[in-house]
Amino acid sequence: MMENKILEVRDLEVKFPVKSKLFSPKEEKFKTVIDKVSFSIVEGETFGIVGETGSGKSTIAKTLVGINYPSGGEIYLLGRKINFNRKSDLIFLRKNVGIIFQDPVGSLNPKLRIFDIILEGLNFEEKYTKEEKKSKVLEIAKKVGLNESKLYSYPSELSGGEKQRVSLARAIISPKKILILDEPTSSLDVSIQAQILNLLQNLKKELNLTYIFITHDFNVIKYMCDRLGVLYYGRMLEISEVKDAYENPLHPYTKDLMNANITIEGTSGFESELEMGEPERNGCIYLNSCRFKMDVCRSDPPLIQLNARYVKCWLYEESRREEYAKVNRGT
Ligand SMILES: Nc1ncnc2c1ncn2[C@@H]1O[C@H](COP(=O)(O)OP(=O)(O)O)[C@@H](O)[C@H]1O
Ligand SMILES: [Mg+2]
Repeated sequence: MMENKILEVRDLEVKFPVKSKLFSPKEEKFKTVIDKVSFSIVEGETFGIVGETGSGKSTIAKTLVGINYPSGGEIYLLGRKINFNRKSDLIFLRKNVGIIFQDPVGSLNPKLRIFDIILEGLNFEEKYTKEEKKSKVLEIAKKVGLNESKLYSYPSELSGGEKQRVSLARAIISPKKILILDEPTSSLDVSIQAQILNLLQNLKKELNLTYIFITHDFNVIKYMCDRLGVLYYGRMLEISEVKDAYENPLHPYTKDLMNANITIEGTSGFESELEMGEPERNGCIYLNSCRFKMDVCRSDPPLIQLNARYVKCWLYEESRREEYAKVNRGT
């Protein structure tokens, strides 16, 4: 298979300062929110990132468009290593990677008309005449299915679905290689969700886009994604094709997720469905919830490659293939 890696993330680490009140008020501590996450994206695919609320999905997304800066690791976009301290690299990143957030209300300036909000997405390096700008906005509005009459309204006058179309128009009015969709339909009614997902599918084909699709909804993953990365407390525990992740999940956490999803009726997400232990920061992060834990799990496992899949679990280390076989019989 010809695979063209468009984006590569190696050992990404993102930390946020936490002001400690217990100690000296000036002392700054850091909490690691993304902990050595690695994955790569193949041109044209839809790569899903799934994880519970707070697992770090949005932090990864924001790092990939230069809103958050990494404290460790490397990001390669189109083969170019991004130096976050270099302005030209950040421009390169933002030029090629677009993003849409979950909450269209919070991301659209309430004081601007829709026309001007969409214009915010124009690449600021290129200069356009008034007429060119207008024809660009009209063209993109049509592409995202936004009625021309809405262009002179304010965000508050639009429905949730229309607002998400505006976010989309702003993100792609300048051509992008990769579009990150951070829970783009979570705040929408189910009937509207389907419209937006279909629109995204069509746009992807039409504009030759590559998607990173962030969600905690299993149905959306099945419908949208080719491969999927499972994030848990800032660590990527498994990367698999969606079909494999469902039919033969590797990581004990993925197994638990899939079981919870199958047995609990009427729910499509996976928040608060599992009885979870505390994350173990020093060893395998899933240690305190894991059905298969071993002594070795007190140290953090590496990301192990199995053919085209990746799993961060000691069960899959070469010398433990027997346990691996046992685990597979047990599910
Ligand atoms: N700017 C920030 N400063 C401090 N902590 C943050 C910041 N952004 C996110 N966090 C923390 O990082 C963790 C992951 O957040 P986030 O990436 O938003 O998760 P998700 O999108 O998966 O729900 C959370 O514990 C959150 O509180
Ligand atoms: Mg989020």
